[in-house]
Amino acid sequence: MSEYKLSGVMFSEEQIKERVKALGRIITEDYQGKEVFLIGILKGSVPFMADLMRCIDLDVKIDFMSVSSYGSATHSSGVVRILKDLDSDIRGKHVIVVEDIIDSGLTLSYLKDYLIKRGPASFRICTFLDKPARRKVDLRPDYCGFEIEDKFIVGYGLDVDQKYRQLPYISWVTTE
Ligand code: IMP
Ligand code: MG
Repeated sequence: MSEYKLSGVMFSEEQIKERVKALGRIITEDYQGKEVFLIGILKGSVPFMADLMRCIDLDVKIDFMSVSSYGSATHSSGVVRILKDLDSDIRGKHVIVVEDIIDSGLTLSYLKDYLIKRGPASFRICTFLDKPARRKVDLRPDYCGFEIEDKFIVGYGLDVDQKYRQLPYISWVTTE
């Protein structure tokens, strides 16, 4: 069992706030006159979802899904199991999936197919962080907070073995 050591600050609380505000402004402009339906992926997206929805100046509805991808603490396997599905129908809605981070892209690529089958009016992905160098499938977010290099991130919802989700800033861990 390896130990994880918390490193420094990659993005401060202030930097996160500014970036989320900017994303909210962009989404507000892109969806003028429409209602958006935000789908947060539990549990990692919780702080981002809570901040982002308050920066969108449109009619907003929210729902959550919980999925588990079989794998180790730091690597997703691509096999996705739905632990909690949506409570509401998304047919005809302008759906934006709100995710904490895209790594291999396997989880979201599965969810994208799954949700598009339900007939939303439109479908987009908004991720707080993106690690494009790690991608295993062709999946690109429509909105992204920050592109980052290949590090294992914690804080602002992101965890390692369920730890560090509550940090108000973004950090990363190293193994020793
Ligand atoms: P993917 O299917 O490989 O894109 O992985 C997606 C999920 O793995 C994310 O929603 C996170 O829950 C988790 N994950 C991927 N990279 C990290 C990381 O650097 N820190 C914490 N969780 C991560
Ligand atoms: Mg996640």
